[in-house]
Amino acid sequence: MQVVHISFECYPVAKAGGLADVVGSLPKYLQQFGVESWVVMPHFDIEWVRNHQLEVVHEGFTRIGNERFRYRVLKEQGDVLGFPVYLVDIPGRLDRPGIYIDPNSDFLYWDDFERFVSFQVAVLDWFKSFSKKPDIIHCHDHHTALIPFFMTSSPAYHEFAGKPSVLTIHNGQYQGIYEPEKRSLLPKVNPEREGFLYWNNRLNTLSAGIRTSWRITTVSESYLHELQHYSKGLESLLTFENGKSLGIVNGIDTDVWDPATDLHLTKNYDHKNVTEGKEKNKEWLCDHFNLSPDLPLFTFIGRLVGEKGADLLPDLITRFLETGLKGNFIILGTGETQLHMRLNFMKQDYPDYIGISLSYNEKLAHRLYAGSDFLLMPSRVEPCGLNQMYALRYGTIPIVRSVGGLKDTVIDYSRQNGYGIRFDHFNLDEAYYALQRALTLYSDPHLLHKLQERAMNRDFSWHNSARQYQLMYQALIKEGLP
Ligand code: GLC
Repeated sequence: MQVVHISFECYPVAKAGGLADVVGSLPKYLQQFGVESWVVMPHFDIEWVRNHQLEVVHEGFTRIGNERFRYRVLKEQGDVLGFPVYLVDIPGRLDRPGIYIDPNSDFLYWDDFERFVSFQVAVLDWFKSFSKKPDIIHCHDHHTALIPFFMTSSPAYHEFAGKPSVLTIHNGQYQGIYEPEKRSLLPKVNPEREGFLYWNNRLNTLSAGIRTSWRITTVSESYLHELQHYSKGLESLLTFENGKSLGIVNGIDTDVWDPATDLHLTKNYDHKNVTEGKEKNKEWLCDHFNLSPDLPLFTFIGRLVGEKGADLLPDLITRFLETGLKGNFIILGTGETQLHMRLNFMKQDYPDYIGISLSYNEKLAHRLYAGSDFLLMPSRVEPCGLNQMYALRYGTIPIVRSVGGLKDTVIDYSRQNGYGIRFDHFNLDEAYYALQRALTLYSDPHLLHKLQERAMNRDFSWHNSARQYQLMYQALIKEGLP
């Protein structure tokens, strides 16, 4: 069975968030179940692309609106990801240094709709002449959600009408909503299918994908239920499409994320020498950020945006320190400018307890998972969340709000076989109480050690989830036309 994953991100080629981690690892694990898969993504003007050997495998012409454009498809030659990666080059559109955001201005590219659409029509145009036709087309998020729509609705791609398609929603907050006038840039579709493009009188590419793909998956079961109650206007659609929807929790790449072999760490360790291993990594961190290694270390890693609950951090940390509790905090990430400012002020107020790195830094992230005692994830919304799983694998106790994938992957330590700390509602009091519980846990090294071992022994690999995808693909092929 052959499955193609079409995505705007894939780690390590280009990453803006967890989508890249999933697309960069799921194909590898699918192979273990006999599912041969490859990835198709844009050819950005980035370092990875410049440093790898690529060969042009196809050249063609297609169009958006009245504009005819040339595109090329390049294949990576070294098989460095463990599965084939194809990059679609569209000069003037995709060959830029940012994935979605222009690094020079920090704004979204002005022509993001044109970029997403030209990529999708180029992919389908290429597939028409591609000898290795995939059995399943698997799209990820709104950037590629028009593909199932075109396949089922556009005469130009009529030959794909009977091909099973899957759309995975990694984040339903982003739906690809545009003014209806943008419709003129899209290919002709059968008149009775035209309505699928719109939702609430706007062009909504995610909704078009939801309505026309054969299966919808979300990246955890809880998130699927949550979307049916809160998804920025798509609630009724997702409830209506429940019959073809499935929640499959993400796994993590346990080759990349392994404290026993991770080259970024100051000291490697496994569950047998977790205490010593974490201590050494914590020493490096505390030295680097000028903090005392004797205090518990709380870390936040991720985008500094409301969705991740990052706006709670300044008040939470201030309350913690002002009420005389003792602990250090390190924050790694980038996001809203206002929040950057608030965090910088806080650092000035409490220089001895706070370390911040307002950047994207993969290496430091690995070191933080290893050297921290606790990882904070007070998310408002969390479709799956990977950071809590990375933390657990490194023996770091996650403190999470019970939402989406966090609810499905973290068991509170007050429960049987638990290993984490959970709180229910997004507010300062509950988050503060969770930190107090963390301090109580920290003061009991024996219990902490037991939970660290338990966390490290949990299996968060892709094995189970890849199997679920394989079963879904098999069922789709057997089913035939939806
Ligand atoms: C998005 C979600 C995150 C999820 C990731 C991978 O980034 O916000 O929760 O883990 O996609 O599916």
